[in-house]
Amino acid sequence: MDHFLYRDGILHAEDVPLPQIAAAVGTPFYCYSTATLTRHFKLFDEALDGMDHLVCYAMKSNSNQAVIKTLADLGAGMDVVSGGEYARARAAGVPGDRIVFSGVGKTREEMRMALTGGVRQFNIESEPEMEALNQVALSLGLVAPITVRVNPDVDAKTHEKIATGKSENKFGIPIARAREVYAHAAALPGLKVIGIDVHIGSQLTELGPFEQAYLKVADLTRALRADGHDIRRLDLGGGLGIPYERSNSAPPLPVEYGALIKRTVGDLGCEIEIEPGRLISGNAGVMVSDVIYVKSGEGRNFLILDAAMNDLIRPAMYGAYHDIIPVIEPAPGAEQTPYDIVGPVCESGDTFTKQRDMPPLAAGDMVAFRSAGAYGAVMSSEYNTRPLIPEVLVHGDQFAVIRARPTFDEMINRDTIPAWL
Ligand code: LLP
Repeated sequence: MDHFLYRDGILHAEDVPLPQIAAAVGTPFYCYSTATLTRHFKLFDEALDGMDHLVCYAMKSNSNQAVIKTLADLGAGMDVVSGGEYARARAAGVPGDRIVFSGVGKTREEMRMALTGGVRQFNIESEPEMEALNQVALSLGLVAPITVRVNPDVDAKTHEKIATGKSENKFGIPIARAREVYAHAAALPGLKVIGIDVHIGSQLTELGPFEQAYLKVADLTRALRADGHDIRRLDLGGGLGIPYERSNSAPPLPVEYGALIKRTVGDLGCEIEIEPGRLISGNAGVMVSDVIYVKSGEGRNFLILDAAMNDLIRPAMYGAYHDIIPVIEPAPGAEQTPYDIVGPVCESGDTFTKQRDMPPLAAGDMVAFRSAGAYGAVMSSEYNTRPLIPEVLVHGDQFAVIRARPTFDEMINRDTIPAWL
């Protein structure tokens, strides 16, 4: 459920009509709903009720300062994967002891930054990384709390580009080698082993793969404890999927996911962390765009929008589906016509969808891409020197621009012409 609904025939974000935001900031823009962000965070938090837990929002899905602060104020921790994300979390006021540092290639500089600034734990993904963190921690006279990310060799049954839990993926260490790797970690004086980490992929629409992975983690917890390690925290990753195509998908709910966690690892007495991104921010955002032209092609019609692949790359990159709906509600029973919906960028890949049935639309009409709050703005670029589009946060009947559209001068002035030119 989200808070983008038609009221009196106009699509609203909470109590704000989207055309009012368009009039203030121009199109295209991203618009996020505070009520939806809050609701989704609480669903996870409540799903783990009764267990010692921390929901660490995966900032990579949407790392705007206002989004982070909204969630942090509710008590969320953060899952960060770069020095930049760490800095963003701290700038939004998140205390270090609520920040989990993930990622397969943390640099020494990033380790130093998090160790000195404060960090809940590092999720370590390889032995060379473990050695590096040990050296950095010792050089600072500190001890780094760590989990090791294990790769459980489970098929997440999701898009190949976002599956991470099979043995051929670059993530984590093979679970079969875990005892050996933990023994190595325990021998390094700059590290303190505190738990186990796992994340098998993103946009999972079934619970089965989570169950397989978490049962393996439960077995490993017992084995590592028997080896003498103090395993007191399990980071179970993110990945629960959302219904991108509302008419025909219903992924499991956070409450069902929470029950699965309790069933699989609940008896171990461990503190539980989860790292959801998409399910918190995805349906909390839409991207609103204007139809520039309706063009008749050879046997097909194109809706040419002012948004493009640089603004929302998921369809071009993963063949991802997004619901696209008119901002002005179509009349009931309005005739549907198939359109290819495209952006203005000079490549055929700049296609959001092909032959999608849409109600009648004309130049100047606005459409909203649903489920665009996660992996939308954060993956955007200035390709074709198109400015990053503004982000707006709605809260009841208020809205605020939380990232403004840069001017052409601001974009151009980031370049420098060398003295010899
Ligand atoms: N934890 C780790 C270690 C991750 O790698 C990820 C996502 C998450 C948590 C959050 O997963 P979520 O709950 O959002 O599914 N750009 C792609 C998604 C990439 C996901 C990468 N890792 C997309 O647009 O679908």
